[in-house]
Amino acid sequence: MNDSVYLNGEFIPLAEARIPVMDRGFLFGDSVYEVIPAYGGRLFRLPQHLHRLEQSLHAIHMQNPMSRQNWETILGALAAQHPGTDQSIYLQVTRGVAGARDHAIPAGLEPTIFAMSSPLPAPDPGIPARGIAAITLDDIRWRLCNIKATTLLPNVLLRQEAGERGALEAILIRDGLAVEGAASNLFIVDDGQLITPPKGEHLLPGITRDLVLELAAEAEIPYCEANITAERLDEADEIWLTSSTREIMPVTHLDDRPINNGRPGPLWRRMNELFQAYKEELRTKG
Ligand SMILES: Cc1ncc(COP(=O)(O)O)c(C=O)c1O
Repeated sequence: MNDSVYLNGEFIPLAEARIPVMDRGFLFGDSVYEVIPAYGGRLFRLPQHLHRLEQSLHAIHMQNPMSRQNWETILGALAAQHPGTDQSIYLQVTRGVAGARDHAIPAGLEPTIFAMSSPLPAPDPGIPARGIAAITLDDIRWRLCNIKATTLLPNVLLRQEAGERGALEAILIRDGLAVEGAASNLFIVDDGQLITPPKGEHLLPGITRDLVLELAAEAEIPYCEANITAERLDEADEIWLTSSTREIMPVTHLDDRPINNGRPGPLWRRMNELFQAYKEELRTKG
């Protein structure tokens, strides 16, 4: 069981996991996925991740191939393989293996279900002092970005361009609005208020995003869900990017310009403390 992956009903070593080339996930990217952190062997916000999986499957006209309880058992078993180290659990459901390559969806396919656990590196300890650099790029993705689909070529190219320009993430601009990062959600701080774009087709409903809003509500930090124009992004007091694997990243340089004098801002420090406390509580108490 140690260091095995889950594939279609079996736990097997990663090197033995195989899928047929006629799998529609391979041929068309016809599949959806989730990435779930596990701290101390405990899955972070599992019900929320399984709910989003359900929504992604529904959006691509697929039934959930497993009950919530079966998901919990499988993902829990993967997380339990290394309770001493933080892990990230990846799961993917493809539409399955077809007889021929055809865009039209054949009836009666058996979905391919794959899940694995990998070490989750701790966030860069330099981030609280330096933050990260980001650039703005035109959002070249399709319109249904609320679906967590594995068709990630635009995200891959955008992230690559950010890397080549010395930045860790790209903030995507569509129709004059800053929507999210290539693999993260966007927050700004403007005059003491935390702002994040509202959910909709143009961004992924991030699990970390929702937690940040919950923590803000509990701590009575003023926040709202509102569109962020590219101009407002430029003038923000603080900019944050959130994701399950990278937590809350303070952007201190945007397009080579310093934000908040090039240092993580005070509201980021406060929110990061709340977030770390939430994580530690899960790790120690479940
Ligand atoms: C495009 C995009 N937006 C937002 C996120 C953040 O979502 P979560 O907090 O659920 O990881 C991700 C995560 O990978 C992403 O790929």
